[in-house]
Amino acid sequence: MSPKPAFSSAAAVVTGSSSGIGRATISALAKAGASQLVVHYCANQRGAEETAKIAWQSGCEEVFVVQADLQIPSQRDHLAEVAFKKFGRVDAWINNAGADVLTGDAAKLSFAEKLQWLWRVDVQATIELSRNVAQRMLEQTTSESNSEKLPPSMTFIGWDQAPLGMEGDAGQMFGPIKAAVMAFANSMAQEFSPDLRINTVAPGWIQTSWGESTSDYWDSRAKAQSLMQRWGTPDDVAKAILYAADPANTFTTGQTIAVDGGWSRRFQG
Ligand SMILES: NC(=O)c1ccc[n+]([C@@H]2O[C@H](COP(=O)([O-])OP(=O)(O)OC[C@H]3O[C@@H](n4cnc5c(N)ncnc54)[C@H](OP(=O)(O)O)[C@@H]3O)[C@@H](O)[C@H]2O)c1
Repeated sequence: MSPKPAFSSAAAVVTGSSSGIGRATISALAKAGASQLVVHYCANQRGAEETAKIAWQSGCEEVFVVQADLQIPSQRDHLAEVAFKKFGRVDAWINNAGADVLTGDAAKLSFAEKLQWLWRVDVQATIELSRNVAQRMLEQTTSESNSEKLPPSMTFIGWDQAPLGMEGDAGQMFGPIKAAVMAFANSMAQEFSPDLRINTVAPGWIQTSWGESTSDYWDSRAKAQSLMQRWGTPDDVAKAILYAADPANTFTTGQTIAVDGGWSRRFQG
């Protein structure tokens, strides 16, 4: 008899899963046996529907596509409400959504405007939403029908360079923003263990929309700063997210897992 898949019959939510790392995570969850998934998006409805299709094709039984601009309190409440109402229980919540200020029209904004936008989406919305989700997860763990289940998890997305710092505007924006997310996740882990497991995955240079269109300088820098000498892929990050969120990994909480192919100190800028 083959072993049960890791997420067999599990329910999970991935914020910002209309593209990139979020989409890869939904796909990996579906392949790992998750039976109920929420695909969340803000503006990219077509992308979210494509993600949902991938989940169905991988055998997921129930997939809900939910739109919410997480900057707006009523919309983030709506996302949490829909997920917990539809599924009754959420085993894994992945806080992946983050503002893209590097491509499209947003790239033309001033430093102050980008910082403010990142603050609202990546930090404030993530913190407020997670506090809401944690309360709902605690209620579900104390309910009788769920008392035998393993502790649910929440996984955050940081950035490998945030605690160390990086030169330039990107370092001065994403550094403090993602460090704030990582610090919040660690505080959540301290508060809610052993009832909830809380971890962070900290990607390095991952080739999503910015990485696909960036300059030769950043392309070669991204490759040179990884000991594996290549860009990371959304699938690389999804694997670490699945490890952190796997219900059976009951001794993994308060951890930050870097996914950067090993940081190279050999790079000469
Ligand atoms: N790529 C990297 O190298 C890298 C490195 C470190 C950390 N990260 C982090 O990893 C996460 C995913 O990044 P990615 O590269 O996969 O980017 P992505 O493809 O641009 O995905 C970002 C997701 O966030 C959603 N989002 C943006 N603003 C939102 C808002 N106001 N409300 C709700 N959802 C919103 C987007 O939704 P819509 O498109 O539907 O609007 C999209 O689904 C982000 O938190 C990012 O900061 C990425």
